[in-house]
Amino acid sequence: MRIVFVASEVVPFAKTGGLADVCGTLPLALERLGHEIIVIMPRYSGIAAEKFIPGRVSTSGLGQGIKVYFIENKKFFDRPHIYGGAEGDYPDSLERFSFFCHEALRLLKDLKEPVDIIHCHDWQTGLLPLLVKKDAEADSFFQKTRVVLTLHNLAYQGVFPKGQYSKLGIGTGMFNEEGVEFHGKINLLKAGILFSDLVTTVSPGHAREIVTSEFGYGLEELLRQKKGCLVGILNGLDYDQWNPQTDPLIQPNYSDKDWLAKKILKKKLQSAFKLPSFGDIPIFGFVSRLCYQKGIDLFESAFESLMERPIQVVLQGVGEDKYQKIVQRLAKKYPQKFSALIKYDESLAHLVFAGSDFLLMPSVYEPCGLTQMIALRYGTVPIASYVGGLADTIVDLSEGALKGNGIVMPSYSVSGLLESMDRATGFFHQKDKMNALVTHAMSLRWTWDISAKRYIECYEECLK
Ligand code: ADP
Ligand code: GLC
Repeated sequence: MRIVFVASEVVPFAKTGGLADVCGTLPLALERLGHEIIVIMPRYSGIAAEKFIPGRVSTSGLGQGIKVYFIENKKFFDRPHIYGGAEGDYPDSLERFSFFCHEALRLLKDLKEPVDIIHCHDWQTGLLPLLVKKDAEADSFFQKTRVVLTLHNLAYQGVFPKGQYSKLGIGTGMFNEEGVEFHGKINLLKAGILFSDLVTTVSPGHAREIVTSEFGYGLEELLRQKKGCLVGILNGLDYDQWNPQTDPLIQPNYSDKDWLAKKILKKKLQSAFKLPSFGDIPIFGFVSRLCYQKGIDLFESAFESLMERPIQVVLQGVGEDKYQKIVQRLAKKYPQKFSALIKYDESLAHLVFAGSDFLLMPSVYEPCGLTQMIALRYGTVPIASYVGGLADTIVDLSEGALKGNGIVMPSYSVSGLLESMDRATGFFHQKDKMNALVTHAMSLRWTWDISAKRYIECYEECLK
């Protein structure tokens, strides 16, 4: 099969979160299954490409033979951020990403050989399914091509005022229920869902959630109509990239047979976050985009009670101004116990995963979550809410030593978080149990191979 991935972020070229991890590593697994993969993404500032078609596209590589095409446009993509800074998305986001979709379509046609599957990701590529279907009405090029859209985060839908319609470049007659309109506004994710042959999301649990009003973010009815064409496939993790034994970003390295080095890394972590190293107390790490989804509000509500306890918490993240300010304010209050670094930093994130005892993930919703899988690989035990992909991957310790791999919050509440963190602390001090848990955590694998096969089955189903 010839499969093209179209996405706004892809590791190792550009990343703000798990979307990039998925779009840079699932193609590798699909390639291993013998398929031909092409990746298309914007060329943001700082991306070094190997070859250029001046002003339009440049290319690089991934895996054995995956060609990555970068859509060029200095005005739109040569900026300090991928989507925008702490104040929010850039005001011309509609233009930036509709340009990207139009250019992706043009590039695919320029490549001459039709592809079987165009796999789009999130609202930034929401216009592309519509463009492909409209093109196929007039031209044979895309007639056999099928379009798949993966929903990584339904809360971000690419909603813009009606007044921006002309900038979409789709002519007249599409600002309606059968087009891009939703509740009087342009909604690019809605258009993507409508025009795709198959919609997927990133865990089976989240696929069940998004057809409900609690998690559907207004799109539940439309998603319910998709029924047979809505599938949840759990994300995998690239265990070559996330391997404490070979990770160049942590020193010393350690393995699942001998992870004593975690103690040294804990000290390094305390030092990086300017926390004192006192007594034998657990450290809870938090690595996250700072936004509503990740449960910063709950953390803030629980904060004073948490700080009464014999623990330390380190938080690393960037995101919305509101949450950055909350975190910075909290960090001033108990400098010996809570420290936060407001930055996107790959090396530091690896140190938090390796040096912490527990990882906090009190997400309000979590389509899949890779952070808990990464933490487990580094022998750091997750504490998480029971939603989406977290519920699909984390088994509470009460299920017994062979099954349990983390702590599931009994309720989404301050008391639920405190109770879970107290359980964690209790566990931390029962050394034998804690050691067995760390060993078990490090042995767990959610590899891409299984999920990649599932994607292929779904692609094949679409092509029938
Ligand atoms: P989401 O995609 O919702 O942000 P995931 O858990 O799927 O959540 O993936 C988050 C990814 O982004 C992980 O690879 C995590 O390590 C990384 N990450 C998040 N925040 C930071 C940060 N401040 N610095 C470095 N990496 C980060
Ligand atoms: C999103 C989700 C996260 C998921 C990631 C990759 O950003 O918030 O849960 O793991 O995409 O699919």
